[in-house]
Amino acid sequence: MPTLETTVDGIKFPNPYVIGSGPPGTNRKVIGKAFDEGWGGVIAKTVSLDASKVINVAPRYGKLSGENKKEVFGWENIELIATTSFEDWLDDFKAIKDAYPDRPLIASIMEEYNHDAWVEIVQRCEETGVDAFELNFSCPHGLPERKMGAAMGEDPEILEEVTGWVMKAATIPVWAKMTPNVGRIEEPTRASLKAGAHGISAINTIRSVIGVDLETLRPMPTVEGYTTPGGYSSVAVRPIALRMVMEIATLIRDEFDGKRSISGIGGIETGGDAAQFILLGADTVQVCTGVMKLGYKMVKPMLDELLAFMEKHGFETLDDFKGKALPYFTTHAELVRMQAESQAQKRAAVAAKAAAKEAAKKKADGITRDDKWDGDDFVKQTEDLVSE
Ligand SMILES: Cc1cc2nc3c(=O)[nH]c(=O)nc-3n(C[C@H](O)[C@H](O)[C@H](O)COP(=O)(O)O)c2cc1C
Repeated sequence: MPTLETTVDGIKFPNPYVIGSGPPGTNRKVIGKAFDEGWGGVIAKTVSLDASKVINVAPRYGKLSGENKKEVFGWENIELIATTSFEDWLDDFKAIKDAYPDRPLIASIMEEYNHDAWVEIVQRCEETGVDAFELNFSCPHGLPERKMGAAMGEDPEILEEVTGWVMKAATIPVWAKMTPNVGRIEEPTRASLKAGAHGISAINTIRSVIGVDLETLRPMPTVEGYTTPGGYSSVAVRPIALRMVMEIATLIRDEFDGKRSISGIGGIETGGDAAQFILLGADTVQVCTGVMKLGYKMVKPMLDELLAFMEKHGFETLDDFKGKALPYFTTHAELVRMQAESQAQKRAAVAAKAAAKEAAKKKADGITRDDKWDGDDFVKQTEDLVSE
């Protein structure tokens, strides 16, 4: 019987399904619900030292759905980080760890470009007993104006410096969460790993405009007639997330001896989705929008589906198939070369088969009449008449 238990950066997860930072991990009540339903871990909604600066608007979500409006492919949000005060969050962290001591609780943290603020947030969160940190270097809206979130994640130099501050202050594992809104995900990834981060979480949302209302002619989600570009998530972003996880895993394999962890995020809703991220090198997977669409109970079929996948392929542990699809990426030029080589081999095989057929036919046609004997080919013609 396969097991979904996994240990990542020294933290024991009962299964690889982790609630991604966002509304599904936004207070102690919902985090408790996630654990009760069987989630392997929770990354709480991102906290900062001064929540009074964080003010949300409504509406702040937008959906992209199919024609029947039931199937939602894409989701945009212009939501900020936690609005609950930092002190209340510290109480929540303690209460959750008291009630669920064996379940990994990861604090997602974000601060301005200020050394002392990062050290303070790390130290005060650690005192509550949280198991790890996720550094939110990736929120694409609202906070970049304060040089937070994606403003840091898009600048590898600042990323390396800030990760370095955190690594000096923290005594528990640290994952750096990447923004996908960059040309090459390897650059911020390398910067945070060079600074010592234990792992990478990817991806946060993709900067987007969900649509324009054809009645009002205003962009959505519309707040007082206006909007601001938001962050895109849900199943539509999965192929982009898979590509980025592949690139991160390749970099970790090639430049860090494969010795850093990955938490894959983006459009995961089934065990099959999770298996694909693991096949590309993820250790854990996170789900945010999926829970907003389907509820906490979605984890049950996801657990069964992943176990069924493992049983089908004879995998006992997640490590048995982690990164198994990674060696099968190459350049387009190499695909062309391999295909030309394989076609040439196939053509040669067909030609050899035809030649053999012709020879057999000739042999069968052999010398049945004396006038077919030929002085130049005499020995060969004789041999062809010998029974094998
Ligand atoms: C409404 C909403 C709020 C979010 N808030 C946060 C946040 O506070 N911190 C963070 O790191 N990511 C946040 N995210 C990003 C998610 O954690 C996740 O990286 C992204 O949505 C892609 O995963 P998904 O398709 O499973 O949602 C938020 C996403 C949504 C949809």
